[in-house]
Amino acid sequence: MDNPLADIEQYLEGHREAFEDDLCQLLSIPSVSADSRHRPDVRRAAEWMRDEFARMGLEPRLIETDGQPLVYAETPAVPGAPTVLVYGHYDVQPPDPLDQWISPPFQPTRRNGNIYARGATDDKGQMLTHVKSAQAWLAVRGRLPVQLKFLIEGEEEVGSKALQKYLETPAADHLACNAVVVSDTSQFGPNQPAITYGLRGIAYFELHVKGPKQDLHSGTFGGGVTNPANVLAKLLAALTDDHGRVQVPGFYDDVRPLSAQERESLAKLPFDEQQFQRQLGVNGLHGESGYSTLERRWTRPTCDVHGVWGGYQGEGGKTILPARAAAKFSCRLVPDQDPVKIAAAIRQFLEDRKPPGVEIELIYMSGAPGIVVPLDSPSIQAAARAIEHGFGRSPCLIREGGSIPIVMQFSKRLKADALLLGWGLDDDNTHSPNEKFHLADFHRGIKASAWLWHELAAG
Ligand code: BES
Ligand code: MN
Ligand code: MN
Repeated sequence: MDNPLADIEQYLEGHREAFEDDLCQLLSIPSVSADSRHRPDVRRAAEWMRDEFARMGLEPRLIETDGQPLVYAETPAVPGAPTVLVYGHYDVQPPDPLDQWISPPFQPTRRNGNIYARGATDDKGQMLTHVKSAQAWLAVRGRLPVQLKFLIEGEEEVGSKALQKYLETPAADHLACNAVVVSDTSQFGPNQPAITYGLRGIAYFELHVKGPKQDLHSGTFGGGVTNPANVLAKLLAALTDDHGRVQVPGFYDDVRPLSAQERESLAKLPFDEQQFQRQLGVNGLHGESGYSTLERRWTRPTCDVHGVWGGYQGEGGKTILPARAAAKFSCRLVPDQDPVKIAAAIRQFLEDRKPPGVEIELIYMSGAPGIVVPLDSPSIQAAARAIEHGFGRSPCLIREGGSIPIVMQFSKRLKADALLLGWGLDDDNTHSPNEKFHLADFHRGIKASAWLWHELAAG
């Protein structure tokens, strides 16, 4: 049979270099949303996206918020065909520790078939696959078979607050759609593409423990005064037990149990624990008793510390009792846990354990619920066919442990389920030094995306 997308595939083949060069331009912008010093850079990335949509002949706009701007662009409505919202983010995680990068994080570098840069896979490279496929359709055919509405935000890595607020306003009605496409997840493995049907949620905290008005000599005062660093260590340690169970009362109350059927289907995925250990450089795996590693990572809630500070960190010894100590930590959540309820339970847990002589301050920084999307929709079938065209292999169905805070709100506000089509790999070093995106996956992702518009229109 003739290939109905032969002309478009030919355009993609002819533009591989140009697509990579455009990705490099975007990757050169240090759009780190967590760091206020990068605010102008985050904005420059938004403007680059806007200009990119304009180059395709669309009429994009920046939607200003009290945080970073949302970039919006749409293709013409197609009567009788679905409307698809394409969501992604142009912001990135902080690049540190800088000394561990082989090439600088914002000087995109091609090496061993990969492009290395902060944001390469999360999410600039993945997000751009849909922009490039739309560019191809517009250039070759002058139109798309479905209407696309691009919504690219700049605060995903810090909890999507501005977008959450925007979605609550009537102004967001223009986002009405039949499906939401997001490429910000991973394949199950190399050459094993996946459709992700579940993501964990998150509740993110900063905890401050405050003691004496200034640092004290630990010989003179130690033993007589509560040490904030000791208290911090104890509180953090109390959050979990040795069997991977979170100790906060009520924490598991709303956790939706796994069905026998789902456990069976997860157990069938070809997952090699030895290879996984080697990949991470650890000599053993550990987690909640009674669950497999994939179940622990994808379907069970957790509590993890991300950073701890306080007291003396310089060379040599300094015998002080630090005045303050603090930490960042978060809980990954699963359906049907409510992040706000979890935050209240954690606050109570810490208050109950606070010893005399210190004050504690718990800051709830951001939260989002976990999701599981239904697998019986026709759009999942369309996506599976598109992935087969792009990657030469049919996708498996997985859940993942990361969070995309806005996805649940899309399904509530727009009544449209998310299609989570990840082109990344678990060893892409997301949020970590030497982040990369496999260039072959970039191009396969663009091809799958080009087919997706065709398959979604076919229904
Ligand atoms: N793209 C990730 C989410 C993700 C990671 C999904 C791995 C599936 C697998 C996203 O950019 C992200 O990192 N989200 C944050 C959200 C948080 C900062 C509120 C996360 O999961 O830590
Ligand atoms: Mn992401
Ligand atoms: Mn991320």
